[in-house]
This record gives sequence, structure tokens and C-alpha cells, in this order.
Amino acid sequence: MTTTTARLAFATCAELPELDPDDQILRDALLERGIATDAVVWDDPTIDWGTYDHVVIRSTWDYTDRPAQFADWTRRVERTSTLLNPASVVGWNIDKTYLRDLEKAGLPIVPTIWLDPERNHDSRAIHTRFPAFGDFVIKPTVSAGARDTGRYDAGVTQQRSLAITHAKNLLSVGRRVMIQRYLRKIDTVGETALVFIDGQFSHSVRKGALLDGPYREQQADELYRQEIMTAREASDAERELGERVVAALPTIAPGADGPLLYARVDLIPDDEGNPVVLEVELTEPSLFLAHAEGSAARVADAIAARL
Ligand SMILES: Nc1ncnc2c1ncn2[C@@H]1O[C@H](COP(=O)(O)OP(=O)(O)O)[C@@H](O)[C@H]1O
Ligand SMILES: [Mg+2]
Repeated sequence: MTTTTARLAFATCAELPELDPDDQILRDALLERGIATDAVVWDDPTIDWGTYDHVVIRSTWDYTDRPAQFADWTRRVERTSTLLNPASVVGWNIDKTYLRDLEKAGLPIVPTIWLDPERNHDSRAIHTRFPAFGDFVIKPTVSAGARDTGRYDAGVTQQRSLAITHAKNLLSVGRRVMIQRYLRKIDTVGETALVFIDGQFSHSVRKGALLDGPYREQQADELYRQEIMTAREASDAERELGERVVAALPTIAPGADGPLLYARVDLIPDDEGNPVVLEVELTEPSLFLAHAEGSAARVADAIAARL
């Protein structure tokens, strides 16, 4: 049992008990403001969350194969403490089917075919949903750090069968599956992450392409795929789409009526070069504070203002 005087907790996972380096920067920025933070493992059964007035979800990246347990935990914490972001927002955001809500709201997303585990898709039914040519991606709707994600070449028979196996394995354990065309411009342009603090644009970074081929069993134990980040100013079109997404949240994400402590909008270019939404991270986004001067101070101020 941690003995503490801190009233603020950063929730992390057992693999990162001392937090991710980026959150250490944030912890230091809070300390400069006289605010102590405990790093607490979200699924540690000995923790009395009621001792914390505020719990900020940070590096809890190991929940992706047990989202129901994680969602329960968020609701339990919220009974005694203020959870950031709120449990209702997290409940909406941990499963990428929320992308359908964005699409309905008129926002461009990466075109996606969805496979539901309840539908008992056989190999043929999965196969017919793959694109006829080009590369495509298979991933579960609940994921972080590109876990359980693979890239396949539709023109190679053996890769199509690997993709079927990958999809079937996910479906067989009750996970919903997404099929997307691999948007090639990511290889040259990369992915752009736009970070919003309290609803205000803070900074953006570039993330290099991550997927190099079919899903491999050895990847199952990786907490996240190694990412290559660099500072990058978002284009006007990216910035505008990011702002539209954040502006739409109050009407589509339950409980997002006030400004959220953090929101990250990840965009990639479609084949015409127009940005489309890959994901919106309201649960446990890396905020890439090391890449943007002043950003740690902005997040620390936003947290401090809520205490
Ligand atoms: N349709 C796609 N086209 C190109 N790259 C993709 C596509 N989908 C996923 N990726 C790559 O896989 C990574 C992880 O996918 P993402 O949808 O962001 O899930 P998460 O980060 O939640 O695991 C992305 O950062 C990107 O590099
Ligand atoms: Mg991502």
C-alpha cells in the first residue's frame, strides 16, 4: 500500500510503475507548482482510490484485452474521485466504433469495414471484405500502441490467408475487427497528432508509419510499437479538421459537454492528400510533451486549475 500525501494520482500500468518519460515531465511541471503526484497502477487491487481527489489516466496501456474491466475501474474511481477524462467519455472512446459517430457527424474518417464477433463470420465472409488489390490493415476496435495490428498485401494469397487468421483469432475471443485500406501516403507524410488541452489547440507532432507487415505472434507481448516522433506544425487543413473534431465532441461523446483536460486527434492523408481521422484519443493519449516547448506547462496549469 502506497503511503502518500498526494491528492492527485496518475494512473499507469504495472509495466510502467514509474510512468512513461513524458508523464515524468508532467509530474515535474506539477511539482514546480507545488502539486505532488502519485503514480498508481490502475489494476492494483490494494489501492484505495478514494484517497485521491483527482485521478488522471495516463499510461494504462495494458487494458486493451480487458476493456470491460477497465471501464468498470473508471466508474469505480469516479464514485469517490474526479476522473480525467470522465468515465463516460472513456467508455465511449475505448472502442474505435466511436469513429462511426464522427462519420455520422460529417467528419472524414479512414474508410472502414467493421466485423462483429456476434455475426460468426466464416473465412469466406471475411475474405470477401478484403480489398481486391493493394495493402490493407486488420486491427481490433480496442487497441493502443498498434497492438494486435497487421498490414497485408491483398495481391499475395499467403498474406490474405494470414489476414483471415488474424481476423478470426480476434473475432474468436469476442473482439470487433476493423478492415481498412492501408493509406500509403502515411509512408512519406506520416501521421499527424494534434493535442488539445482544455479544448484549445496546444501542439502537433509527426509520427512515422508503423506497420511493416503481417501481425506476428511475438508482437503480442509488446506494450506498444516503437514510434518515431518529430515536432511538426500541422497544416491548415489538419488544424481545421482537428478543431472540427474537438468542436463536435460535446454532441457525440457522452459527458464531453465541458472542455476535456486532453484530447488528441490523429490524422493521416488519404490518397488525394486530404487529412482523415485515424483515431481520437480521449482515454490515455501520449501527449508528446517532450516535443513541444511549453506544452508540459499548459497541461500542468490545466490540471492545477481543476484541483
Ligand atoms: N489504414 C491505415 N493506413 C495506414 N496506416 C495505418 C492504418 N491503420 C493503422 N495504421 C498504422 O497503425 C498504427 C496504429 O493504428 P491506430 O488506428 O492508430 O490504433 P492504436 O494507435 O489505437 O493502436 C497507426 O499509428 C498507423 O501507423
Ligand atoms: Mg494510434
